[in-house]
Amino acid sequence: MELYDAMLKRKSIRKFSGKEVDAKLIDDIKNYIAALKPLCDAPSIKMILIDNSEFGEYFENSSPIHAQHYIAITSLSEPYFRENIGFMGENLIIYLTSLKIGSCWIGTLKPKGSAFELPYVITIAFGYADGELYRENLDQINRKSIDQICLVKPQNDFMTELVQAIRIAPSGINRQPWRIEPDNNSMHFYCEQPSFLTPVNSDNLKGLMPGAILKRMQGISCGASIAHFLICAKHFDKNITFSRIQGREKSYKKLTYLMSAIIEEK
Ligand SMILES: Cc1cc2nc3c(=O)[nH]c(=O)nc-3n(C[C@H](O)[C@H](O)[C@H](O)COP(=O)(O)O)c2cc1C
Repeated sequence: MELYDAMLKRKSIRKFSGKEVDAKLIDDIKNYIAALKPLCDAPSIKMILIDNSEFGEYFENSSPIHAQHYIAITSLSEPYFRENIGFMGENLIIYLTSLKIGSCWIGTLKPKGSAFELPYVITIAFGYADGELYRENLDQINRKSIDQICLVKPQNDFMTELVQAIRIAPSGINRQPWRIEPDNNSMHFYCEQPSFLTPVNSDNLKGLMPGAILKRMQGISCGASIAHFLICAKHFDKNITFSRIQGREKSYKKLTYLMSAIIEEK
């Protein structure tokens, strides 16, 4: 399956069949991880493949999602490390989806003291789905509307297509913190700034959440949405260059400017 189709059909999988992914595919996944490119800079990010049988060596708590395999992601606290993790992790998730392997981000695991060389950030659980792996259609997807995420209306069908790819990305507690400004031949990415205590109202979490915790997830979620953007742009044969445009960080109150993508024909 093409990555673009996998992106459109991906959904979080939380129930797994218990069947192990075979060794040849695990090798392919390891090779894919080794070749993953970050969104920007040269991060220290490391992805560690952990089998179900080794889980207790790495984590204090048991997993809320029981999968055959896990990928723990660790990194130093560097500029854009969360966005890079979201970007690289979501590319991996779409690749797994294209191999008919289900997956889900897990933000609630507690690492054991010295289990990892670098600070632990987040985990991706993966394996064969128990149930339907793919989303059947996007009609009923629980997401903000294009108007809610766009700071300016997309000017044409292609820009709308790119916005749609961003819109369906996964996010911690489905908060969809991305805000985007489509321009003629560029897309500017922003992230919502959580307040000290932010009201949340997701399917499984309601109440006030400390902004510091939300902020950790939001960077990863925005990185995942940029992975969707790039997969869509490549599908339509565009060349993308990311950069930070000086002055844009002051554009909107309560939004953090992340970066801009320049879109060109190949
Ligand atoms: C940074 C991040 C953290 C997440 N943490 C969890 C988690 O701890 N447990 C969980 O069940 N899902 C988690 N998710 C998955 C989201 O709940 C899910 O993406 C969102 O509800 C949208 O649903 P979908 O992925 O099926 O499109 C996380 C997703 C992201 C991007």
